[in-house]
Amino acid sequence: MDWERELLPYHQTADELRAKFNNLALQFTQAENRTPIFSVETRVKTVPSIMAKAHRKQIPIDRAFSEMDDIVGVRIICRFVDDIFIITRLINSRDDMRVVKEKDFVRSHKPSGYRSYHFVVEYNLNTVFGKQTVRAEIQIRTLAMNFWAVTEHGLRYKYQGIIPENIASRLVKAAEAAHVLDSELGAIRDEILDAEKLAKNREEMVRDIIHSIQELYQVSETSTAQEMYNKFLNIWEVQGEEDLNHFYSDMQSIAQVHKVR
Ligand code: GTP
Ligand code: MG
Repeated sequence: MDWERELLPYHQTADELRAKFNNLALQFTQAENRTPIFSVETRVKTVPSIMAKAHRKQIPIDRAFSEMDDIVGVRIICRFVDDIFIITRLINSRDDMRVVKEKDFVRSHKPSGYRSYHFVVEYNLNTVFGKQTVRAEIQIRTLAMNFWAVTEHGLRYKYQGIIPENIASRLVKAAEAAHVLDSELGAIRDEILDAEKLAKNREEMVRDIIHSIQELYQVSETSTAQEMYNKFLNIWEVQGEEDLNHFYSDMQSIAQVHKVR
C-alpha cells in the first residue's frame, strides 16, 4: 500500500472543505456585514501520526484509513459562542456533507475543561481514481476555547497524556476563566458588533469624502475642493458622528452637481 497516495483524497477533502467554509464567510460578510466564521484551518494527519493512533487504538494498519474519523481535521474558530450554533445549524442543513456524529462539548464540557462542538461528516469526492466518500472531523470553537485547547494540548504532549493533578486542576480553572470570558463578551455581543459597524461606516464615509474631494480637484474646482477639505479636517478632528453624517451628505450633493456638469 502506498500510504502517501492513499492520503491524496484526504488532502483534496481538506482543500474543498476549507474553500467551502471560507466562501461561506465571504458570503456572510457580503450579505449581513459580518461573519460568524473568524477563521478556518484544516490539517491532514501525517502517516506517522496515523500509524501511532492505529497502534494506540489497536486498529490493524490496513483498516486505519477507513476506520479513523479524523484523518481530515477542519477547525472553525468563532468570536462568540452564539456564532458556533449558527454554523452547527448550517452544517446540519447542507446536503454536501452528511453528519454521522455530533458531539456538543460547548454546553457541557469534558472533565478536562475542554469545550468545542464536534462533527464527523461524510463527504463525497470525485477524483481521477473514481468516486470516494471521505470522513472529516469538524471542530467548532471560540477564540477563547481554542486558546485553552491549544495550550492544554501542548501540556498533554509534554506529559504524554497524563497531566499531573496540580496542573490539571489549574487547567480546569483556566477553562472556567475562558468560559467566563466567553459569557461576558457574549452578553455585550450586540454592543460590540454595533461599535464595529459604526467604526466601519465611518471609515467608508471618510474614504468616500476624500474620494469626492479628489474628484473636485480633478475637474478644477480647486477653491471648492480646498474649502471642503478644510471643513472636513475640522469635523474629522472633533470626531462628531452627527457632523460627519451631515458633511457626508453635503459632500455627496456637491459631488453630484460637479459630475452632472
Ligand atoms: P480521539 O480518539 O482523541 O479522536 O477522541 P474521540 O474519537 O473519542 O473524539 P473526541 O470528540 O472526544 O475528540 C476528538 C478531538 O477533539 C481530539 O482529537 C482533540 O483534537 C480534541 N479534544 C478532545 N478532548 C480534548 C481535550 O480534553 N483537550 C484538548 N486539547 N483537545 C481535546
Ligand atoms: Mg476522534
